[in-house]
Amino acid sequence: MLILAIETSCDETAAAIVEDGSIVLSSVIASAKDIFARTTGVIPEEAARRQVECMIPVLDECLRGGRSTPADIDALAVTRGPGLLGSLLVGTAAARTVAAVFRKRIIGVHHTLGHLSSTWLRPESASSAPDEPPCFPIITLSASGGHTDLWYRTSHTHGVLLGSTRDDAAGEAFDKGASLLGLPYPGGPSLSRCAEGGDATAFPFPTPLRGDPTLEFSFSGLKTALKYTLRDLSTPLTDAVRRDLAASYQNALVEHLTDRVLRALDHSPDPQEIHVVGGVSANAALRAALTKALLSRGLRLRTPALLSYCTDNAAMIGAAAHFLALEREEAAFAPFTTEATIPLATVFA
Ligand code: KG4
Ligand code: ZN
Repeated sequence: MLILAIETSCDETAAAIVEDGSIVLSSVIASAKDIFARTTGVIPEEAARRQVECMIPVLDECLRGGRSTPADIDALAVTRGPGLLGSLLVGTAAARTVAAVFRKRIIGVHHTLGHLSSTWLRPESASSAPDEPPCFPIITLSASGGHTDLWYRTSHTHGVLLGSTRDDAAGEAFDKGASLLGLPYPGGPSLSRCAEGGDATAFPFPTPLRGDPTLEFSFSGLKTALKYTLRDLSTPLTDAVRRDLAASYQNALVEHLTDRVLRALDHSPDPQEIHVVGGVSANAALRAALTKALLSRGLRLRTPALLSYCTDNAAMIGAAAHFLALEREEAAFAPFTTEATIPLATVFA
């Protein structure tokens, strides 16, 4: 099945063509990060305006890149939420229009289900032999700017939510930490770049919820700890001190995320794989810490095949739509609404 997918849940305008839920024939992402670097955050109306401008050129480039016409496509897929409502409406209106004009069926996809499917993606151009596809049951840490969830999944649409964040999302903790340190938006990549070469033991940050028996997360205390550490600094905030602070803060975030994944292993029957997805899965320190911790348990960490599949993209929406259609065809093609907030639990049985 060839799916043309559209994703516009935040500041990006993305389109992709995905074959059978995994082979990415084309993926185009127009980001407005340059604009929002100047405003140090996303302005929803501005994001939607940019998406209106970018949608047609992005679709055009995507179809040309995939050497396809709309007639070749079997179905449309689009992010129906959660996200910025104005942005989501630009994407769903575009997808509904293409579907109506070319008489294609359309699948509305939950944004986070897209992230959960991102570990199935691989570029068409991959020169090496493809990895074995993932094998259920899977424990997935899904960590982005909007959510931080731990899932135990037995199929694409069956699973239980083991735990979520009580306050900020992990990506938000990176973004807020970066902002406190005077680093540019988006904060995750700039904080992790700044942390390179810094001493992760220079500043003591508490690991949140240490000893807490749940599988929940909490990040807001770390952000406050960074704020007070900066206020009470006895030395000027030189580049070297900023590097040490970034490394120490990142280390505390990574330790918290790793601690919860390891704890989830003890609560889940016989997981075959551990996945980390979402924007935060691009973080090299997190990948290194988890790989090391899982090695001793004989488990392998799987992350999206490309960094561009970690952060928001349309290919993951195409993958999720394919698996939804396979596992729940009637629900997949049912009429859908566009919503700023949708619990993912509604997608899972
Ligand atoms: O999945 P995503 O692109 O969008 C949402 O669904 O929110 O995730 C964006 C989040 C941002 O908070 C960003 O700072 C974070 O992912 N992020 C990172 C890295 N790259 C992106 N956080 C840590 N390290 C990174 N390398
Ligand atoms: Zn996302």
